[in-house]
Amino acid sequence: MTSRNRWLVVVIFALAMAWVESAVVFYLRTMLNRIDPYQPYPLPLLHGFGTAELVRELATLIMLSAVGWLAGTSVRTRFSYFVIAFGVWDLGYYAFLKVLTGWPHSLLDWDILFLLPLPWWGPVLAPALIAVLMILFGTLVTQTGPRRVPAWPRQTVWCLSAAGALLALYVFMADALRVAPQGAKALRHLLPESFDWPLFLVAIALMAIPVAALGRQLSAMQSAAPELDVRLWLNHFERNRENRPEPDWAAPIRVRPDALPAVIRSLEQFQLGDGGGPASLIAVNAGRFRNRTPELRAIVNHWFREEEGHARLLGCAVDRLGGRRIDSHWSFTAFCLCRKWLGVRFELQILTLTELVSTAYYRVLQRHVGDEPIMAMCGLILRDEAGHVAFHRDRLAAEGCSPRGLVGELWRTQFWVCGHIAATVLWISHRACLTGIGGSRTEYYQEVRRELRRFMGALAADARKRIVRSGRGVWPRDGRRDLVNERKPMPAV
Ligand SMILES: [Fe+2]
Ligand SMILES: [Fe+2]
Repeated sequence: MTSRNRWLVVVIFALAMAWVESAVVFYLRTMLNRIDPYQPYPLPLLHGFGTAELVRELATLIMLSAVGWLAGTSVRTRFSYFVIAFGVWDLGYYAFLKVLTGWPHSLLDWDILFLLPLPWWGPVLAPALIAVLMILFGTLVTQTGPRRVPAWPRQTVWCLSAAGALLALYVFMADALRVAPQGAKALRHLLPESFDWPLFLVAIALMAIPVAALGRQLSAMQSAAPELDVRLWLNHFERNRENRPEPDWAAPIRVRPDALPAVIRSLEQFQLGDGGGPASLIAVNAGRFRNRTPELRAIVNHWFREEEGHARLLGCAVDRLGGRRIDSHWSFTAFCLCRKWLGVRFELQILTLTELVSTAYYRVLQRHVGDEPIMAMCGLILRDEAGHVAFHRDRLAAEGCSPRGLVGELWRTQFWVCGHIAATVLWISHRACLTGIGGSRTEYYQEVRRELRRFMGALAADARKRIVRSGRGVWPRDGRRDLVNERKPMPAV
């Protein structure tokens, strides 16, 4: 089972258990007329209930630990799945209790959190914050890539966190500790009046240190990801300039006459969109990516030079079919505005997606158009786009991006959704052309999905290989974190 599925199963179990817990509390509190626990004599003496309650709390902890034990494969992951289960169970308990009873009315309502060794009192928000930290911690440990040895905070971090936990316990039991010398009766009648938020915030800050330490550790691992192999890409772009036979533009036109106007309109738009606009990254912060190294700037220049080549080829096709080269279109203007103002990361993603969905377009066009020069042009563009897509995959993997694990799953979902939006925008503008020459919507979307799937699959495999190579996935047996700079074969283009 993948770690993501383990995580899901643990969460589903914890939610189901939370319902059982809230249902039991709902029955008990209804019988005792104490839906809101903060009322006079909050812990009435009832024969046998006390022991049953204490054992039930213990049983709950045993059940959550058992699930953590089953889900994890090492002490660290077992503990992490346990804290995920605990956090989800705790948050789910309050959520379901709200559904069943209408309580808590607010996150600041008082609740009795636990009974051992003395009653713990606190506003609902306090345990909820701890539960969120638990879920975050467990998720970071279990869901951040295919590491055999997960990221883990150092001992000093644990000591600080333990100090925070003790401090939080003190805050929860401060009033109980104060009245404890007066005996059990006083404890049963205790109703705290104020919660020591400043001290609790110190406690929660200390308890958050392992999460922050993990975040730092993981981002350091990401930035330590092997650099992009720039030489490989410079060689690729150099080699790709060779052996590019020009389509025979003088050949007779073989496009179906009824589809010709739509084909011309489509190629006119592509001539503008595919390299006919600004031949560079145009995001306001584009320099952050392009100027990382002179080699990267050279690669970006090569990439856009090829895009300009596409505009030239498409321009020849438009001229040959009797169309006119356009220099503006509303969809292209909107596209450029998004690229400019949403930042370079988004621009790179939008360009990657455009290349993936354009690949689907050129494939369908090449398959059905029936016109030799246009088919040859599609062949040249598809060859370049395969290289561009492989470059994007490589740079994403070098940045530590992986579609694996829960965080990767979120990234994959947004990539998939944005890909489908891009594909649909393209389909709306070019449907007439593709259906006119005999293509279909199903065929086009099949191509789109195949491209997206391939990209994700290759990225996952690439990211995995890099982690293993850099030694991040395993304890380095011989003390070397070797093979970081290992050469790899040219990507298939
Ligand atoms: Fe292109
Ligand atoms: Fe491209």
